[in-house]
Amino acid sequence: MCGIVGAIAGRDVVPVLVEGLKRLEYRGYDSSGIAVLNGVEVRRVRRIGRVAEMEAAALEKGVAGQLGIGHTRWATHGGVTEANAHPHISQGVSLVHNGIIENHEEQRERLRGLGYVFESQTDTEVIAHLIHHHLSHGSADVLAALQAAVKELTGAYALAVISAAEPERLVVARMGCPLLVGLGEGENFVASDVSAIIQATRRVIFLEEGDTAELTRDGVQVFGEDNAPVQREQHLSDVSLASLELGPYRHFMQKEIHEQPRALADTIDAVINAGSFDASLFGANAEAVLSGITGIKILACGTSYYAGSTAKYWIESIAGLPCDVEIASEYRYRQAFADPRHLVVTISQSGETLDTMEALKYAKSLGHTHTLSICNVQESAIPRASELVCYTRAGAEIGVASTKAFTTQLAALFQLTVVLGKLHGKVNAEQEVDYLEQLRQLPGSVQHALNLEPQIAAWAERFATKANALFLGRGLHYPIALEGALKLKEITYIHAEAYPAGELKHGPLALVDEAMPVVVIAPNDSLLEKVKSNMQEVRARGGELFVFADQDSNFSASEGVHVIRTPRNVGVLSPIVHTIPVQMLAYHAALARGTDVDKPRNLAKSVTVE
Ligand code: AGP
Repeated sequence: MCGIVGAIAGRDVVPVLVEGLKRLEYRGYDSSGIAVLNGVEVRRVRRIGRVAEMEAAALEKGVAGQLGIGHTRWATHGGVTEANAHPHISQGVSLVHNGIIENHEEQRERLRGLGYVFESQTDTEVIAHLIHHHLSHGSADVLAALQAAVKELTGAYALAVISAAEPERLVVARMGCPLLVGLGEGENFVASDVSAIIQATRRVIFLEEGDTAELTRDGVQVFGEDNAPVQREQHLSDVSLASLELGPYRHFMQKEIHEQPRALADTIDAVINAGSFDASLFGANAEAVLSGITGIKILACGTSYYAGSTAKYWIESIAGLPCDVEIASEYRYRQAFADPRHLVVTISQSGETLDTMEALKYAKSLGHTHTLSICNVQESAIPRASELVCYTRAGAEIGVASTKAFTTQLAALFQLTVVLGKLHGKVNAEQEVDYLEQLRQLPGSVQHALNLEPQIAAWAERFATKANALFLGRGLHYPIALEGALKLKEITYIHAEAYPAGELKHGPLALVDEAMPVVVIAPNDSLLEKVKSNMQEVRARGGELFVFADQDSNFSASEGVHVIRTPRNVGVLSPIVHTIPVQMLAYHAALARGTDVDKPRNLAKSVTVE
């Protein structure tokens, strides 16, 4: 969704802003803009569409300067127009904003009464006028005006502000939306996401809720919610430039699918090296917390929710603990029952999904005290708000359709399951060794599944012409069917649904005819015979079956039944291996249909709005 970048330097900052905005493109946006201060004049360029168009316009106008802010906008308040794009300006005060101001209507009326004229329909313009109002009514400088203005706002914001009258400072504020400061030599930066400034510096400070900060060329001062100076810890970001670049691949999604053996190996590295599943994986205090809990509640959205849905099967059968999984946006608005002895596990690739964050806050407000976050982005909002943390080590995921983040979430959840199983006396030493061995073999099995790409690409050609598809799975593989259908929907725009195969006869079977491809995830497990019967139900109605079986499954292709064999059954970790083919099916079908694989229409990478 929206992205922020800002810089104050001894050089022209326009290339820094443009490169930063390009690196934020993956989050999803519909317009972009920059405002740059050169002497006492603010030059602003905004465009609908790609950052490249805005960059060309900035070049043509010769915009340059040593202080500037930039933004990619995802429309919420007001349509996709140049007038609604950021930065917004109020008489020399320029600002970019991520988040949503809830009391913007009330503030707009008030500011109109004070003579301000609005040029956009955004909630953001209110903040620009409010800061200007404070500047002209007693605030000593733009920092003081920003600090006064944010006290009058309700809602969520990350803000970066420059003032034409103060060319020596860039001021910022954070509440409810991520914002970090990048520390350079004689130059400093601000961004909503570390990827936007990683080309300039790795040294970062993550601002906390309620913080404001002032950046000059030579230093950064952070202030807490009470406006008193505070020290915030410096971190060295581990995001690599290579993970943000395409390399030899056509799309980030393709790159990220192929990175999975490495991403999984990195995520399980600590367990493999230690030769045991230790609670300390989840934090110093994890052993005490995890031994004392009596159940698990998982909260997540989208693909992360499907990771949680898979984990439910593991946690109940291996760790012997009750586990329920809930879509975060549903949970946060219902009168839920809270058992404080249950551990709340949030799963989020980005760590900033608003619904998941709000669900976590709601769970705490209901009395949950033990929380664990499984996340791929260091120091993002959700892990910071959690008692225990497990970072997946997938590396930056740029494609909107989540791939390596999902399989690494599954690996982390499996590790959590075995740790819980040990602590609750359900996994003995022999079983632990066995799980360790299964985990050790996982990256290799995933690589083996990746080698099926040519066969899957051939199937995908046939899917590309279809209007609908059904995905079936049972047990542990039902969430993988859901994930397969979601991947296909997201990037090909083919309508796809997933069902537990046993549910077919209770309704969805009515959809099946010759035009309906039915993808079946049919590993060689205890449910295979049941799945085979469900496949017969489809065949009998003329439906065409595309079956992902295991190498050691005992069945073969026939008229209307196409079979691709993944490696031999890998036991409880089979859902991870069976995810690879459905990802590749969606990817190749999207290629055949010519859709925008990495930036599918209407979707954003980080969903920071409701
Ligand atoms: C996955 O392909 C999606 N883009 C989406 O469902 C995503 O998983 C969901 O928005 C949750 O995101 P998170 O993991 O960053 O919280």
